[in-house]
Amino acid sequence: MEEKKKIIAPSILAADFTRIADAIETAESAGAEWIHLDVMDGVFVPSITFGAQMTAAIRKSTNLVLDAHLMTVNPASHLDGFAKAGVDRFTFHTEAVIHSHRLLTDIKKMGMKAGISIVPSTPVSAITELLELTDQVLVMTVNPGWGGQGLIPKCLDKVKELAELRKKGAGDYVIAMDGGFSLKTAAAVWDAGCDMAVMGSAFYNAGNPREILAKCLNPDDSNENL
Ligand code: DX5
Ligand code: ZN
Repeated sequence: MEEKKKIIAPSILAADFTRIADAIETAESAGAEWIHLDVMDGVFVPSITFGAQMTAAIRKSTNLVLDAHLMTVNPASHLDGFAKAGVDRFTFHTEAVIHSHRLLTDIKKMGMKAGISIVPSTPVSAITELLELTDQVLVMTVNPGWGGQGLIPKCLDKVKELAELRKKGAGDYVIAMDGGFSLKTAAAVWDAGCDMAVMGSAFYNAGNPREILAKCLNPDDSNENL
């Protein structure tokens, strides 16, 4: 298995929704290679954000990897819309689905990378049967629904567990975390074995997004402990 390069995916949830094109451009000029799209339906989580139509508009404005995170019930019902919108990666919550195995298969059939996400209360053991099939495990390090929350340190134990399982051949998945990533938490996130970190408020609220992204990719250990 090839060594996975560290990736930071800015989440536009933290951006100015009246200036999404600028937010995409900010991510591009900061050197980001992925954009994280937080799709919320007001049912799985209380907030409502945007859907396939907005995603299709974003697709037209960038060549960055579009990493869709569906915090919705019945994510299978959105599969066709987001595939047509042109997302590269489609991640859903296992808590919202009975047939996760089938949905992962269907996502891949439609040519997208298939991701599965687990909320803080869901153990890795709930998805071990799926690891060989999934391209990405998104470990929620906050309770989903809002940006700007504090990282829950215990959730990083799941990142460590997933890294151990991958070493033992459980699958070749990207290990991703989502929520509370910042310069303060970056060292602990990479040390736990993460490959990809979603970064919302700490990126879009930064004075110099390019600088903060570079620093978070290679944080020195002088940052505060968690
Ligand atoms: C929360 C979303 C996260 C969030 C991250 O439900 O899934 O992607 O936007 O935002 P920060 O980085 O501000 O915690
Ligand atoms: Zn997210």
